[in-house]
Amino acid sequence: MRIAVLTGGGDAPGLNAYLKGLYLSCQKYGFELYGYLDGWKGVLENKYIKIDVNDVIREFFEGGTFIGSSRTNPAKDEQTMNKAIENFKSSGFDVLIAIGGEDTIGASSKMHKAGIPVIGLPKTIDYDLEGTEFTVGFNTAINIVMDAVEKLMSTAKSHKRVLVLEVMGRHAGWIALYGGLAGGANYILIPEIQPDINELVDFIKQRYERGDKYAVIVVAEGVKISDAQKYEVVDEYGHVKLGGVGELVAKIIEDKTKITTRAVNLGHIQRGGPATSYDRIIPLMLSYKAIELAKDKISGKLVCIRNGKVDVVDLEVAEGKTKKVSPELYNQMKTFFY
Ligand code: F6P
Repeated sequence: MRIAVLTGGGDAPGLNAYLKGLYLSCQKYGFELYGYLDGWKGVLENKYIKIDVNDVIREFFEGGTFIGSSRTNPAKDEQTMNKAIENFKSSGFDVLIAIGGEDTIGASSKMHKAGIPVIGLPKTIDYDLEGTEFTVGFNTAINIVMDAVEKLMSTAKSHKRVLVLEVMGRHAGWIALYGGLAGGANYILIPEIQPDINELVDFIKQRYERGDKYAVIVVAEGVKISDAQKYEVVDEYGHVKLGGVGELVAKIIEDKTKITTRAVNLGHIQRGGPATSYDRIIPLMLSYKAIELAKDKISGKLVCIRNGKVDVVDLEVAEGKTKKVSPELYNQMKTFFY
């Protein structure tokens, strides 16, 4: 078999582990593995490379994806879809393995229905992909956030300041909640829950009154505080470029408490660098399953972790949906805001 793979959307640590997993699983059956360059863009431009053993062994330890990624949407209109289908068919590949998050897997589901046999593998630092308990990059990202919170804690204490850390998470607050809790953040704001600024301000005042004269607050980038937050740059999936809510929250806190407050935007540091062990091992297991499916001529599936085990769900499960933090979980975790 000739199998093609692409990595789409924002990159994530652990993508190269998927590529190693796919390559060596292909080797087991004598299959060839090709990598489309820069996600779906590579399909539209017919650009791909034959992946070899040296690539995957060398890149396994690196962050990012050595075949590149982009936010190209192959399903944005009929003409683009037809071009992708035509190119894929003319390349003679048996199946396409698409590694991505909500956008890439959603588009892959549409392309599968339109005639390209696709198998999906889960990736997103945001962890907001439906149908799976694992998305590569999330574990690494929350470790980076945990580390940042701990570092901010010491400088906040020295200066008796409030420090606001803005982290990624467009629609969902998984990174903020998990990374924040792990780092011992004092308070966390997520997009799913409309923030109560007065409650946050009272919380900070109480900390200072009781003698804890510092605070680290984690804010997910997708939190909406005011209608004045306007973002204009839009990508092919219709997402605006976020950023700046941390500054806004810091300003409100400083105005209302008169305590010196600073904002830090962690940005793409959350997506960079080598993956954690978890983000290296699970991709190997999921890749193995993806090649088993390909061998058995099964497509239209997302290989996932469900109930703690490698499993498959229909690609469609992830189309047009995002997995959110429930109000119940957030309210329970508020117990640990201290
Ligand atoms: O999709 C993952 C993500 O890291 C989001 O959390 C963030 O909003 C977005 O990508 C940033 O995208 P870009 O790297 O294109 O600016």
